[in-house]
Amino acid sequence: MKKNPSRNTHLKKSPSKLLESINNSIDIDQRMYKEDIEGSIAHATMLGKQKIISKKDQTKIVNGLKIILQKINSGKIHFKSELEDIHMNIESLLFKQIGETAGKLHTARSRNDQVVTDFKLWIRNNSINLDKHLQNLQKSLINVAKKNTSTVMPGYTHLQVAQPISLAHHCLAYIEMMGRDRSRLKDCIERLNESPLGSGALAGTSFPIDRNLTSKLLKFSKPTANALDSVSDRDFAVEFLFVISLISTHLSRMADEIILWSNQQFNFINLPDELATGSSIMPQKKNPDGAELVRGKASGIISNLNGLLVILKGLPLAYSKDLQDDKKIVFSAFDDTCLTLEVMTEIWSKVSFNKGIMNDAVNNSNATATDFANWLVQHIELSFREAYQLTGRIVAHANKNNKKLDQLSLEELQKFNNKITEDAQKTLSINESIKNKNSFGGTSPQRVKQSIKYAIKKYL
Ligand code: ARG
Repeated sequence: MKKNPSRNTHLKKSPSKLLESINNSIDIDQRMYKEDIEGSIAHATMLGKQKIISKKDQTKIVNGLKIILQKINSGKIHFKSELEDIHMNIESLLFKQIGETAGKLHTARSRNDQVVTDFKLWIRNNSINLDKHLQNLQKSLINVAKKNTSTVMPGYTHLQVAQPISLAHHCLAYIEMMGRDRSRLKDCIERLNESPLGSGALAGTSFPIDRNLTSKLLKFSKPTANALDSVSDRDFAVEFLFVISLISTHLSRMADEIILWSNQQFNFINLPDELATGSSIMPQKKNPDGAELVRGKASGIISNLNGLLVILKGLPLAYSKDLQDDKKIVFSAFDDTCLTLEVMTEIWSKVSFNKGIMNDAVNNSNATATDFANWLVQHIELSFREAYQLTGRIVAHANKNNKKLDQLSLEELQKFNNKITEDAQKTLSINESIKNKNSFGGTSPQRVKQSIKYAIKKYL
């Protein structure tokens, strides 16, 4: 038997060291050994059922593959780089295990349909883990939300204090984001879930294969429709990279808030010591490195999405070796996404909040001016635009006198409109403001409690 079963005899020389080192991908694609064996078992089972190989050979091949799986699982196998990739390594191991019968496994199959099958299976298998990480983050956010339905903080637009909200309302925003990430992941896996196995190199095969059977054995929903498309398609990997790029974008926005909130001028949160680092020179420093690295890692993940798109844009149908780099791109983006999700989950489960400071940040900002304008609309029949202008004039007056809106006396307010009453003044209270935001999706404690219940039911 040849050392590398795919090395064709018409090539007079073995590959140069340099070709070997640019060509081999085993360090990367060995992560797909389970999927490769699973795919081969399905293929051999189908070959036997269709009488393309004998039942005896089918059994021998399947049993041999199962033994190889056990050996790899128990760390007994050292993969060889001269065998290029995981497919050739496993085929070579099979030769060692069962002898020349191993040569029958590659009937009616090519590495082109084999690799894309393995890759789809790998993404599908690992998406379960990714979803779990997203769910864990939602869980820790829900825990913070549950405890903080009445914790007041500023809501921002343009990073300027806009209106008072509760911390729970803020958490729920992220919970929804993660919810969309999870549903996007599900959609991606659903679209991915068609079996390319049996497409051969690009044209299909003259053997009487049963693609429905292999598809079923590998739990795909159906076989892909066109062999040429199947072996060159990496749309599923691009979509998966987009899904995780958007997750990492969300995490980066979240990390940015953690960094901001832990800054001395905000001082909304305390990062526990185990989640911060010191400086090598400034003894007083406590740096939010974890969150900063989450924000930073998004850059590499997003670049990987771009990386695969750029590989694909130049490729004619069907397979070209450029495609081999797809796995490195996906695996590293996937690893970083999982890691950053875990880091964020830990941050949210250990962070503590300086509630007094968060409350003061709203107090000192006229954040209830809109509530006052709304009262004018509801009680003295002004249009919203008239009420908005009137409130604006009152804010200008307060600013001129170095006061906040809630420090103006009723007499002062009535100078602007004599229908203004004490009730209007009450709308300037932060707690009133939050309590009144009772519209669906709003920040009132009552609504937020309902939203938490809904989130627990939907996501946990
Ligand atoms: N290691 C290769 C890859 O990952 C497997 C497919 C090889 N196909 C080929 N026609 N040389 O893309």
